[in-house]
Amino acid sequence: MMSKERVQRFLKELRDGGASGCVNDVKQHEPMSRYTTMKVGGEADLLAVPQDVEALRRIVLAAHRAGLSVIVLGGSNIIVRDGGIAGVVVKLIRLNHIRVVGSNRIVAEAGVLLPRLARAAARAGLSGLEFAIGIPGTVGGSIVMNAGTREGELAPRIESVTLMRPDGELLTLDRESLRFRYRHADLPQGCVVSAEFVLQPAPTAQIEATMKRMLDARTATQPLHSPSAGCVFKNPPGDSAGRLIEAAGLKGCRIGDAQVSERHANFIINRGHAQADEILALIRHVGRQVERRFGVTLELEVKIVGRATKPKGAPRSPKRRFEVRSDPAPAQAMGSS
Ligand code: EPU
Repeated sequence: MMSKERVQRFLKELRDGGASGCVNDVKQHEPMSRYTTMKVGGEADLLAVPQDVEALRRIVLAAHRAGLSVIVLGGSNIIVRDGGIAGVVVKLIRLNHIRVVGSNRIVAEAGVLLPRLARAAARAGLSGLEFAIGIPGTVGGSIVMNAGTREGELAPRIESVTLMRPDGELLTLDRESLRFRYRHADLPQGCVVSAEFVLQPAPTAQIEATMKRMLDARTATQPLHSPSAGCVFKNPPGDSAGRLIEAAGLKGCRIGDAQVSERHANFIINRGHAQADEILALIRHVGRQVERRFGVTLELEVKIVGRATKPKGAPRSPKRRFEVRSDPAPAQAMGSS
């Protein structure tokens, strides 16, 4: 089946499944640059924003029957290629409920942003998620990659995670079976729907003071006002990717509008009109230089998804030549960052 036919079949499946409401949650040809913190990425064939878990189930099942792949997109920590994404991209921003359970537990749906969860925990007098105050990801995306900072990571606070399998069934797994590691979890196929966290009671004022200190430190050291995908590389054991990239002389290095941040070298910022292929070329350049200078192979922390080129028939953007610039660009060349 051609991809156009699959899309039609998907929309028909949704309607036939008595889910005509869900059809309104679906758009075609949505540019992913609107939905990613890096502000790059071509069009998704379909973008679905389900209003609840039941709508998500219908969308997942319709995609399964139409032979379309499903990818859940938080939007941070990801680079979508310029050719966009085949199949259905699901945004879970409407799965955004938070519930305090008993004296020390919180259940959050997958679309909740971590800073909101951290603030809700603080208000409930629950400590353990302070480190999450500056992480721009969703609960779902952050579980998939065991998001964290030097002050902590999600894994030790997780009691259980509920996933939706491709057949629409819900499956709840405890922390042990997810085998969390540094920026990694062993999740079965499916998408995270919600998670339960176990925290420790503590005074709200104390939690809020810790969060303020962490946010201040982050603001002072990271380029939070420019579009980026967060840290590009994982830290190699015992060292820091940012330190190595800076020591390789790469701060400020540019390809087109993609630039190694002057503030924190493990961030690549979009100075306004970067294409994904410029960002990816800069990532490769940085990786090669660090390897050549220090013999360290940096592993990617950001996820790269999507097609390198647009599908047949879509208008082509002009081909760009890559030119690596190590000098910071003049002020007038700055984009909207
Ligand atoms: N450093 C440099 N140059 C730079 C950046 C850092 O020399 O351009 C040095 C710093 O001076 C410091 C060391 O590298 O001595 C570590 O830097 P930092 O404290 O900024 O922490 P990091 O290891 O670079 C990690 C997380 C961040 C998180 C911060 C703060 C990873 C890959 N990064 O960064 O997470 O915000 O700690 O806790 O684990 C992210 O995951 O997207 C992210 C930004």
